[in-house]
Amino acid sequence: MNEFEKYYEMSEKTGWRVNDLNWDKIDKQNISDFDKQIILATSVIEHGVPHYTETWTKVRGIEKEWELWQFVTLWAGEEHRHSFALKKLADILDIQGNEKYYDKAEKGEYYYDQISKSHFSDLQKESCVSDCYSSIGGMLTYTAIQELVTAKFYQTAIKKTKSKFVTELLSYISKDEFKHHAFYAQAIKRYYEKSDNKEQYLEDVYNASVHFNMPHMIYDKKFDFFEEEVILTKMDQLEIKLRMGKVLAFNKSIVKKLLTNKSYSDVSDKVALAS
Ligand SMILES: [Fe+2]
Ligand SMILES: [Fe+2]
Repeated sequence: MNEFEKYYEMSEKTGWRVNDLNWDKIDKQNISDFDKQIILATSVIEHGVPHYTETWTKVRGIEKEWELWQFVTLWAGEEHRHSFALKKLADILDIQGNEKYYDKAEKGEYYYDQISKSHFSDLQKESCVSDCYSSIGGMLTYTAIQELVTAKFYQTAIKKTKSKFVTELLSYISKDEFKHHAFYAQAIKRYYEKSDNKEQYLEDVYNASVHFNMPHMIYDKKFDFFEEEVILTKMDQLEIKLRMGKVLAFNKSIVKKLLTNKSYSDVSDKVALAS
């Protein structure tokens, strides 16, 4: 079985469906205003799934890496489940965005519309000046970091809420995000070994780490929730860096180069959330 097939089988065993949650019994009385802003903000960012898929279509040679291409399409489906469930909850709770975080205090539809109209995939590619996000090594690195930060974010949100329903939903989602991180992270070394230009591959991995920005920072319209609210603790940020250090440990020189790079040390300032 190849890595995609192993993932698929694991996902079939551990995965969830939207209807596994009891939507008729949402403990609304336990959902705080802050929880609501978390639900809306994550729902808005997860709404951009077609953009996130498009970022992969712009990766050179992806069509030749069938196993990875298969994974990316499955991953997109799992992200749609997050998007659908969060939006459904935001709609049921009739959440209005706090003006502290958005250009206007509006209901979800207004922000979803901004997301869908964005040219995210172009903006994402432009965010790495060396075009590292058009390479397999660069995109794997981007997604490995982004999924890890997102998983940690959902875990922290779970600790903050008193709602059983929100806990259950965010637990399903955060487990998925860890699974996504694990697949992308392990793929970095696998595709390094397959690469016929290892020096360039490492350069792309390095640049992808240094230029990393979470999706909410890439959108042309600002979705400031993740900037205004410090959700991840210093310990979480340290854990993210240590985990990524372990992922890249197959090549000592890249870890060393990253540790001495000031902008990578500051990665913790850029990792507030999403997808
Ligand atoms: Fe994910
Ligand atoms: Fe997600």
